[in-house]
Amino acid sequence: STYQRGVKHLCEGGIERVPRKYVFPVSERPHLGTERSDVCCGGNWNLKLPVIDFAQLQGSNRSQVLEHLADACEEYGFFQLVNHGIPSQVIEELRSVGRRFFELPYEERCKYMNLDMRSPVRCGTSFNQNKDQILCWRDFLKLSCHSLPQHLPSWPSNPSDLREVAANYSLKTKFLYLKLMEAILESLGVKEIAPKSMEDQENDWMAKDLENGSQIVMVNCYPACPEPDLTLGMPPHSDYGMLTLLLQDESVQGLQIHHGGRWLTVEPISNSFVVNVGDHLEIFSNGRFKSVLHRVLVNSSSTRISFASLHSLSLDSTVRPLPKLIDEANPRRYKDTDFASFLNYISSVGHKGKNFLDTRK
Ligand code: SIN
Ligand code: FE2
Repeated sequence: STYQRGVKHLCEGGIERVPRKYVFPVSERPHLGTERSDVCCGGNWNLKLPVIDFAQLQGSNRSQVLEHLADACEEYGFFQLVNHGIPSQVIEELRSVGRRFFELPYEERCKYMNLDMRSPVRCGTSFNQNKDQILCWRDFLKLSCHSLPQHLPSWPSNPSDLREVAANYSLKTKFLYLKLMEAILESLGVKEIAPKSMEDQENDWMAKDLENGSQIVMVNCYPACPEPDLTLGMPPHSDYGMLTLLLQDESVQGLQIHHGGRWLTVEPISNSFVVNVGDHLEIFSNGRFKSVLHRVLVNSSSTRISFASLHSLSLDSTVRPLPKLIDEANPRRYKDTDFASFLNYISSVGHKGKNFLDTRK
């Protein structure tokens, strides 16, 4: 159908109304401006997420920052990471190449379109376009990054700098992810020792597992929408993996997280990542850290582009709570399974994957 060609293509044809296929039921719409009578900021509750300073995490304040980090993962499942050490040039180049990719003519982008969810390189639309009854106002480019030598040759060669720029970015974010996981394990009390160099960790199974895990860089494009209150850029969902490192659009907001029974808009902070806990990390932490629902709103004036780096373990790994985190006071909350079955389950039921393993359900 013409909708499979994506939202960008639809908009380029010129539309004044949102087609029925994209209209959500009233109860699931964003309700822009009607949430409560005393709202500010154009009808949304804005949220300043806890801020974690990555540079401080590497310094003498580490233990304090670790506490703050654990609090954020428990309370919000989200935090903003500043002073992350990835050069701004690397990020600007990625933003530029992502924008230029979606500016390419449809004929160029459609070379990468297919319906195989497992395809390592894929241009697609909506959330899960094979299953969605209502389509989301989103197009995306998915790039599998692990391992680079394996996947890089199949990435788009247009724009001509895409491979180099995205590969460089993926390596830098992977390094940052590994450092964050090291800190997270330490904050869970699983690893009390100070971080070692990568070489020293050769024999550390956990470090190896994390290093060999999968990484996907997802470039999301949410075109300006004529009727933004009828549809969503992404429906409420939690991420299935360990951690997601997200570069929000610097100037166009849209990400909302579910917190305290409300949808709150995450204010973009420049030069930062929005980092969130995925289902696998929630299970791994035996429910201490929360994989929180989030969604994306669209707007009538600007296209929004975001870049999510999704990190998880490899397909042959086990999804289970860490034995060290199970005791009498904290009984096991999730059953063990293998990651491949977990992913199959998630793709068949949507975002409720972790409930499937919940021992209390
Ligand atoms: C996501 O949930 O992965 C995308 C969030 C965003 O576009 O801000
Ligand atoms: Fe997400």
